[in-house]
Amino acid sequence: MFFNFKSGVGRMAHDPSVFVVDTHATRPAVPPRLGKQKKQSGVAQTLLFVLVTLALLGVFFEAFFIYRLYQSEYVSITDSKEMVYFLYPDGRLLPSKPVAHLTDAQDAHHDPHVMAWSVIAEPLLYEMKYKDRHLIIQKEGYYYIYSKVYYSQGGAFCHSVMMRTKMYAGKGIPLLEAREYLSKKDKEDKSFSNSFLAGVFYLSQNDAIYVNVSSTKQIISHRSYENVFGAYMI
Ligand SMILES: *[C@@H]1O[C@H](CO)[C@@H](O)[C@H](O)[C@H]1NC(C)=O
Repeated sequence: MFFNFKSGVGRMAHDPSVFVVDTHATRPAVPPRLGKQKKQSGVAQTLLFVLVTLALLGVFFEAFFIYRLYQSEYVSITDSKEMVYFLYPDGRLLPSKPVAHLTDAQDAHHDPHVMAWSVIAEPLLYEMKYKDRHLIIQKEGYYYIYSKVYYSQGGAFCHSVMMRTKMYAGKGIPLLEAREYLSKKDKEDKSFSNSFLAGVFYLSQNDAIYVNVSSTKQIISHRSYENVFGAYMI
C-alpha cells in the first residue's frame, strides 16, 4: 500500500499533461519550478531517510540492550553437548572477562582419552562455549588455563591440556603435560594421585582447548570438585 501511494505521487509530478499545459505559456517557467520541486522532494527524501535510519538504529539499540539484559539474568544450555552461557540467575555481577570453570559429574561422558565436563553441576561459563568436551574461545587474548585430575595409579599416566586451532588444521597441540611412570615395585601397591597443570597462553577466536589423559578409566570421579578444567582471560 505504502509503495503504491508513493509511486502514485511520483507519477503525478511527472505527469505529461502538466507539461502540455505549460508548453503553451510564452515563458519557460516550468523547468525551473520543476527543478525546485525536485530539489525540495530531494531534501524531503534525505530527511525521511535520515529519520527512518535513526528510528531503525533506535530499534537495534533497544534490541541489543534487551538481549544483554536477558543474557545477564538467564541460564542458557542449548543442549547437553553445547553450552554457551551458564550464569546464576540471582542477580550476581557479570564477569568482566571470559571465564570458565568446569567440573566432573555423572552427566560427563568421557571419551577413552578426552575428558568430558558436566553441564548440570553449576559450571561457570561466560563468553566461552563448551561443546563436545571442548572449551571454545570466543574472544582473542591471553588466557590462564588450568586442569586438575584425580586418578588411580597404574604404571603410567599422562595428563595434558591440548589445543586445536585452525592454523594447524585442527590438530591437537599439547599446551601442558604431566607424566608419571611407576617402577615395578611401586606398581604393586596401587594408590591414587593428583595432577595439576596451569599456564598462560594466547588464544584466538574458535581455538578449542580440552583435557586429554592416557586413559579416562583411571580417572576417579567420586566428587565433582576433584576433577576440574578452567580458563580465564587475563
Ligand atoms: C590423547 O593422548 C594420547 C596419549 O596419551 C594420544 O595418543 C591421543 O592422540 C590424544 N588424543 C587427542 C584427541 O589429543
